[in-house]
Amino acid sequence: MTRIALTDAQQQALWQAARAAQAMAYAPYSGFKVGAAVLDAQGRIHAGCNVENAAYPEGLCAEAAALSAMVLAGSTQARAVLVLGSGAGWITPCGGCRQKLREFCSADTPIMSANAHGLGPSHTLAQLLPESFGPEFLPA
Ligand code: THU
Repeated sequence: MTRIALTDAQQQALWQAARAAQAMAYAPYSGFKVGAAVLDAQGRIHAGCNVENAAYPEGLCAEAAALSAMVLAGSTQARAVLVLGSGAGWITPCGGCRQKLREFCSADTPIMSANAHGLGPSHTLAQLLPESFGPEFLPA
């Protein structure tokens, strides 16, 4: 499977946007702050953070917030995604966010994991969500 090539500058910009978003996360219940950044087809970056809620299931993931920012800006095509959480681990999007990403990504869109120190492993959307359901299965 072909990976979509990103320049070092694009990767760095995604990481910086995700870090800045993470700093704004509202996570008083888990204490786990997440930042996500999406590069759209026009080369713009949209970021999001997790927003928790006293009614726990109502919390919002960082990836969902970043996708919402992208759609608000007029794009429905993500070229790359980067996500980072608290701690040194490389996090990947939760199951629900993988499906949300499926709507706006291609099978080979890179989903990069990172932490406070830099970039970690990268997976394609198809690796994270194989045999998935998407818009093309719905009748026009
Ligand atoms: N979280 C995200 O924002 N994205 C993920 O992909 C994994 C989990 C958030 C949800 C919750 O606010 C906190 O991390 C702990 O699960």
